[in-house]
Amino acid sequence: MKKINAKDLRSLYLDFFNKKGHAVIRSASLIPENDPTVLFTTAGMHPLTPYLLGQKHPAGNRLTDVQKCVRTGDIDEVGDASHCTFFEMLGNWSLGDYFKKEAISWSFEFLTSEKYLNIPVDRLAVSVFAGDDDAPRDEESAQLWQACGLKKEQIFYLPKKNNWWGPAGITGPCGPDTEMFFDTGKPKCSAQCGPQCDCGKYLEIWNDVFMQYNKKEDGTFEPLKQKNVDTGMGLERTVCVINGYTSVYETDLFSGAIKCIEEMSGKKYGVDENQTKAMRIIADHVRTATFMLGDQIGVTPSNVDQGYVLRRLIRRAIRFMRQLGIQKGEMSKLAMHYVDLYQEVYTELKDNRQKIADEINKEEEKFSKALEQGIKEFERVIAKVQNGTIDGQTAFRLYDTFGFPIEMTVEFAKEKGLAVDEKGFREKFAEHQKKSQLGSEQRFKGGLADHSEQTTKLHTATHLLQAALRKVLGNEVAQKGSNITEERLRFDFSFSRPMTKEEVEQTQKLVNEAIKRKMTVVCEEMTVEQAKAQGAIGLFGDKYGEVVKVYTIGDFSKEICGGPHASNTGDLGEFVITKEQSSSSGVRRIKAELR
Ligand code: ALA
Repeated sequence: MKKINAKDLRSLYLDFFNKKGHAVIRSASLIPENDPTVLFTTAGMHPLTPYLLGQKHPAGNRLTDVQKCVRTGDIDEVGDASHCTFFEMLGNWSLGDYFKKEAISWSFEFLTSEKYLNIPVDRLAVSVFAGDDDAPRDEESAQLWQACGLKKEQIFYLPKKNNWWGPAGITGPCGPDTEMFFDTGKPKCSAQCGPQCDCGKYLEIWNDVFMQYNKKEDGTFEPLKQKNVDTGMGLERTVCVINGYTSVYETDLFSGAIKCIEEMSGKKYGVDENQTKAMRIIADHVRTATFMLGDQIGVTPSNVDQGYVLRRLIRRAIRFMRQLGIQKGEMSKLAMHYVDLYQEVYTELKDNRQKIADEINKEEEKFSKALEQGIKEFERVIAKVQNGTIDGQTAFRLYDTFGFPIEMTVEFAKEKGLAVDEKGFREKFAEHQKKSQLGSEQRFKGGLADHSEQTTKLHTATHLLQAALRKVLGNEVAQKGSNITEERLRFDFSFSRPMTKEEVEQTQKLVNEAIKRKMTVVCEEMTVEQAKAQGAIGLFGDKYGEVVKVYTIGDFSKEICGGPHASNTGDLGEFVITKEQSSSSGVRRIKAELR
């Protein structure tokens, strides 16, 4: 086996598949553009969904790329040897072109050929789908692996839980897969030991998915028009496995960052367990934040959706930096290290260099003081805590006054052996949201309380406006306030600079186009979780538990809202923005009319 770094693995992989007739395409944005059911791009296939469903891809029906991915589901695991919130996925696709035979033989060639990864055949293990009511047992893949030279003992039949991939969101393309593992040579931990076991004998490096099904909203699977191949190889993990490293932090993607953190903190990596874990968390979170901020679409810290995840990552990294004695202002230096490291492959990082530094410094400024005070407050709180649980009111105060994301309070508490009444927190949160909504409704007479025809239309226009703003300015835009009279709407939203004249015009144009499309306004009731899963925007605090109304306007807008609304956009008339001005720091205000 050969030693290989990430830089070389990227080009080796793309080159190999390019030679097999695949067009090399650029990584898509981390913000999914065609799947409202998830916040981030989680796999290489994700941006290719329309093409897996049958649309023609301009670059052809064989593609390969390295895709930026974010998965935050395992954020608590970060700090161990292999979990990262950001990672790169190498992949190759057949869009209705080749299928199992080529996919498997090329995977085998890349893994074992001397020119490529040069893994001895007896160090490989693979799994194939065992079969169930939805799809048959995959004897064909097993035979193809045997034809490559694998012995029966190296092939494992596993059920859907292990050997079915997708969809990336709630619905979409998916199918049985065959996964490839490196056998470390350790003894089996039991008679049942196999790739499904996490004892560390088998390490996953690659996944070939045979995407032949579309999962529908009702949970059933329908055959796709075309048979696709979707593969994914995690860059960090593969480099780690091939080189026999004990963690991904030893790879060339992290070693520089760890050195940087050692210098900033004056502490050594690998000496103290807690400090090592803190260094890994910082290295991971700052890298992810750098990619989110520097993305071609991009997000900035906020209290909703992607912006909230980014905020959590930055704040959690700050917390661990302080624990290591690293002072304010250092985080952006680490981010710049990542820009330097990755900018050749992801040129958008170079373009957004200043933005990345500014936004990190801004968020650090915002949170640093509050963190210090919040920790003091937290110490006071735990001295008084009863029954080992921090109550919801206190957790809410830490959020509201000190900017502690609830997840951080839970983590702090856990370190002290305490729990947090999260349900109580959510109740306080919802109460607070309601109060501020009621407050604004009462303050502005003739606003929402009065549902005349004109105010109803302006209300629908406000949804179109918010959707248009997000299209023009990006997902940083989130509602900060809304007020409607008979004459006009007023909409406050997060955005850090004045809009240009062109952006105002473009926004107005998008709204008027949406009006002209005469789209039906559909209202559905669902739980907040379902609404979120469908990509509805709305106040973050509404996120928990209760049933809400979701208003959908074609493919243009989906928002949690109490209503009422016009039934068709065609009724609204002409939309005119009359003013764009500052409302408060980081918040802009638009006034608009329907004529
Ligand atoms: N989409 C497949 C995965 O993410 C290849 O594992």
